[in-house]
Amino acid sequence: MKIIMLGAPGAGKGTQAKMIAEKYSIPHVSTGDIFRANIKNGTELGMEAKRYMDEGQLVPDELTVKILLDRVAQDDCKNGYVLDGFPRTIPQAQVLDEALTKLGESVDYAIDVNVPDENIVKRMGGRRACVTCGATYHIEHVPPKKEGVCDKCGSELILRDDDKPETVKKRLSVYHAQTQPLIEYYTNKGILKTVDGTVDMMDVFASIVEILG
Ligand code: AP5
Ligand code: MG
Ligand code: ZN
Repeated sequence: MKIIMLGAPGAGKGTQAKMIAEKYSIPHVSTGDIFRANIKNGTELGMEAKRYMDEGQLVPDELTVKILLDRVAQDDCKNGYVLDGFPRTIPQAQVLDEALTKLGESVDYAIDVNVPDENIVKRMGGRRACVTCGATYHIEHVPPKKEGVCDKCGSELILRDDDKPETVKKRLSVYHAQTQPLIEYYTNKGILKTVDGTVDMMDVFASIVEILG
């Protein structure tokens, strides 16, 4: 099963993608996580990506597409995957479709986690992320057992550099301009499913499971 998660920054794509990955035993592939891992390890790719991410801009398609195609060509992706944060532009979607068509495959579902902009800015300031394992928390909705410490691995929890309110606003405007057109793209392909992302995360997950079966 190949699934794409669509939705604004902070809509809960990562939260839902992790639950989907676990329930359906497929890998969770997040381009944002791949970039953050590269930044943390100080790679050339990480340094290049950081310039854009810190501004709330998209990393150029040429860089992003290559990384994603390499990742989904790995063995653990043979039985499908859930993509979180890719595609984010029409050209990215077209490259993915072309690559899959060559393999005689296609995306099964594009799930849009719908959350209005007003809710987003509030959510992001409360998000905390683990520097080591990528686990995500929210100081009100999903607090860690011990403040500032990851439940899963014991590492430090941080506020992401791009979660500052000004950058969140920029990311939202980039989302509307460059990513939202994908909703029509996947509607036209007949695979778009929309879920209400404003409700409790377990209720969001329940509507997704209803779609995926
Ligand atoms: P990326 O890491 O993908 O960031 P994003 O799309 O901005 O999305 P987020 O990770 O911020 O939000 P999310 O939807 O995953 O929400 P989450 O589950 O954490 O990308 C970062 C940057 O990398 C981009 O800006 C760009 O520069 C670059 N990039 C990445 N991919 C790219 C690509 N393909 N092309 C070009 N550039 C790319 O939830 C948010 C918070 O809300 C959490 O605290 C969570 O606990 C809480 N929460 C979740 N669900 C609920 C709920 N139902 N109720 C209450 N709280 C909830
Ligand atoms: Mg995410
Ligand atoms: Zn951790």
